[in-house]
Amino acid sequence: MENKSKNGVRFVYVDGDYCFPEDAKISIFDRGFLMADAIYEVIPVINKKLIDFNAHDERFTRSCRELGITKPLTKDQFLTINRKLISLNKLKEGIIYTQITRGKAERDFLFPKKTHPTVVSFTQSKSITNTAPIFKGLHIKTMADLRWGRCDIKTTQLLAASIAKTKAHELGYDDVWMIKDNFITEGSSSNAHIITQNNVIVTCNESTNILSGITRDSILKYATVHGYKIEERQFSLEEAFRSKECFSSSSSTFVMPVISINGQRIGDGKPGIHTQFLLELCIKEGKKRSI
Ligand code: PDD
Repeated sequence: MENKSKNGVRFVYVDGDYCFPEDAKISIFDRGFLMADAIYEVIPVINKKLIDFNAHDERFTRSCRELGITKPLTKDQFLTINRKLISLNKLKEGIIYTQITRGKAERDFLFPKKTHPTVVSFTQSKSITNTAPIFKGLHIKTMADLRWGRCDIKTTQLLAASIAKTKAHELGYDDVWMIKDNFITEGSSSNAHIITQNNVIVTCNESTNILSGITRDSILKYATVHGYKIEERQFSLEEAFRSKECFSSSSSTFVMPVISINGQRIGDGKPGIHTQFLLELCIKEGKKRSI
């Protein structure tokens, strides 16, 4: 549980209070704890600034709406919490995690009528623009996608993905790409993309099978401006094997080259030039628009 800021302390946010983690309290009746009745966002921070804040706030609003949770924060309040935690924890680079739960209620499968949503937020200091896997590339294992039918909602129901990633690690891989009905859906906590021999970026279309990633969206936008052709459609493992490059994307890693899948080399088995370009583009454009 060590992720203290440079001055040796770490503040977290719980329902209006900034406190030390050891003083933070959540009810054992909180539905986030009992039922994973909760949604979350992970926002990258570079140079003390938030990347793609507006898009993350919009997705937060959507997740609340899809689950019938009354969003307890305005956009401005959310921004204030983020900025205050960056300042209190002297966060230069890393992520801010914010979770909203439906709140506490007597345990019942029926949604309770009136609850006060709980809001929790904390920072994690880590390098996201200069990590070893970016230069080395990831070794991926494919596994059956055993998650639920609403992967488009960013809920804290992450056990299937967590089990898959842990299993992949035990087998000596870095991460998982999940397969449903013979098509790759996404990674354990990232979107999956391939670049064909004709330099077309292919990524699974938006549906209830994947989380519509903010990083995915930014990559597609920036890549289009730079002349890349994009195809948002399902792709198979066989197509990934035939591709020139593969990569994963997420807010905490941006663009990560994938250099092998199930032990089979992709391309020449090194991070590809298009992936490197998209990573640099994503960081450069993200920083330009950071707030
Ligand atoms: N995960 N798909 C899944 C299943 C994810 O969990 C994530 C992000 C993504 C990428 O979304 P975005 O680009 O908006 O981060 C796709 C975050 C980082 C996490 O759970 O830590």
